Amino acid sequence: MIQIAIMGLGTVGTGVAKVVEANAAQISRKLGEPLAVKTVLVRHFREGAYRHLMTDDFEKIASDPEIRVVVETIGGVEAAYEYTKRALMAGKHVVTANKQLVAEKGCELLALAKAKNVNYLFEASVGGGIPILHPLTQCMAANRIDEVYGILNGTTNYILTRMIRTGAGFADALKEAQEKGYAEADPTADVEGHDTGRKICILADLAFGAQVDPGAVPMEGITKISLRDVEIARKAGYRIKLLGRALRLEGGRRTAYVAPHLIAEENPISGVEDVFNAVVVKGNATGEVMFYGKGAGELPTASACVADVMECLQASPAREEIGWSPVSDGYEDPAKLVSRHYFRIAGSEAEAAAAFGTVEVLAAEGGETAFLTEGLKAGEAAERAAGLQVLAGFRVLD
Ligand code: HSE
Repeated sequence: MIQIAIMGLGTVGTGVAKVVEANAAQISRKLGEPLAVKTVLVRHFREGAYRHLMTDDFEKIASDPEIRVVVETIGGVEAAYEYTKRALMAGKHVVTANKQLVAEKGCELLALAKAKNVNYLFEASVGGGIPILHPLTQCMAANRIDEVYGILNGTTNYILTRMIRTGAGFADALKEAQEKGYAEADPTADVEGHDTGRKICILADLAFGAQVDPGAVPMEGITKISLRDVEIARKAGYRIKLLGRALRLEGGRRTAYVAPHLIAEENPISGVEDVFNAVVVKGNATGEVMFYGKGAGELPTASACVADVMECLQASPAREEIGWSPVSDGYEDPAKLVSRHYFRIAGSEAEAAAAFGTVEVLAAEGGETAFLTEGLKAGEAAERAAGLQVLAGFRVLD
């Protein structure tokens, strides 16, 4: 019998316990012996199926020689960081779904894991149940990765989909996402783009091999997306989606950001709806590869965690190394990236043309004009729009 521990019994932690139990036969066949959850670290004891496994004393896990892998599903940084370090120091493998911790401290925790000859794995931290980090670092290892972008937050994609399809209000759609277990404990991180930001940083770290600090990455959420813009975009053959995007620039420099984009409906990512996520990776040998699946929720996320647990147990000590350089210079402001821009202004086509030169008008009524600019640096687009009464402005994914 192989024993593991879970730290934190929220949506994902509970999912891990359920997957270990429900798929016991399959897991046992693959590992050659059964896998069981021995201990669950909680802050407050509560009744339920796992009450007999609960402890509030981390040392019971760290000092238990039978526990070989610890699954951290506490979330956030402080306690999760402390316990992860102590578990690695105690020689336990650690698996996590905690994107904030990986984005901020992943480099350091990977170095500690390496020093202790154990693994720190975090497939579940990006894309929930979608296998993306392993394919990026292993299956695409022969490529130079030039760009990664995607719909990386299930909650906001669910909210946008519900609002567009059923006309649901923002608050009701958010409540539904929370009830389904998609949202963060504080959904501000979803809605304001911070969750997507942490995930795009992890993807950029792995794709480009150097730290991209979440604090440096501009993050804009979905609060400025109105049904009016969604409708104008749809009639013109576009969808509006929240994207995380990371690009390799000339000379090995790199950039990343989070913002809503207009995406042409011919791009398959424009059709990704509900809680589904999709990640597009551009390799210099493969071209574009797209990964698609459920990006949040109890069982999909737990599936990625338990697969990482199994990998820790199966890996030889010489497991393929993942990691990146802690050096974070080489990051450039995405304001220099060129793309077309969508604007809706209170004003006429003539005013739009005076500011931007040639524009493609998508809608003009009620004193408002919605239009697309030609390709411009984001910084320049903002400067040119400064004299206009801008009601909405988004990038186009070109
Ligand atoms: N709140 C996150 C989301 C959970 O909605 O995508 C998965 O990381």
